[in-house]
Amino acid sequence: MRVLVSVASRHGASFEIAEEISATLAAAGFQTAVLPPDAVTTLDDYDAVILGSSVYVGHWMDAAVHLVERFSKEIRERPVWLFSSGPIGHEPRADDEPVDVADVVAATGAREHKVFAGQVDRSRLGLGEKVILTAVRAPEGDFRPWDEIHAWANEIAAALRQG
Ligand SMILES: Cc1cc2nc3c(=O)[nH]c(=O)nc-3n(C[C@H](O)[C@H](O)[C@H](O)COP(=O)(O)O)c2cc1C
Repeated sequence: MRVLVSVASRHGASFEIAEEISATLAAAGFQTAVLPPDAVTTLDDYDAVILGSSVYVGHWMDAAVHLVERFSKEIRERPVWLFSSGPIGHEPRADDEPVDVADVVAATGAREHKVFAGQVDRSRLGLGEKVILTAVRAPEGDFRPWDEIHAWANEIAAALRQG
């Protein structure tokens, strides 16, 4: 079974989450590919899709939303899981749900949407981004929950095996 793990990532933190999910699925015996949404030209090669995005100012990145729009029919025909990577310095809360995700869940028929804490490395950010983070008093650091990410990927593997 072939699984596409596609993630929109501006500074790489969410891409590394996608790589961890992919590695976990590969270790469980699945064929996987990790691609940014813009590099996905067809879903024909995949039996299941895991789609993620980092969250900026409450929104998914456009490329992830556009993937759903570009493959609106094909993506509904496959099992889909969604994840967001964002919250910094606290456990994900109900209000960390990106505003676009309800529509993405509806459009894809996704089985689940997970929010994982993210990473901020200020040395990678542009000035405008630093200003926003300073304004909302977000701390710098890597809060990504690797054990939880790994466990979620194993849950997906189990669900895919059950069909
Ligand atoms: C300017 C800016 C705005 C952000 N806004 C949000 C937000 O609204 N909600 C959230 O959960 N995370 C927010 N974040 C945190 C990012 O989503 C987090 O750092 C994520 O891990 C970045 O992933 P990436 O490196 O793959 O882009 C913001 C980060 C920056 C720099």
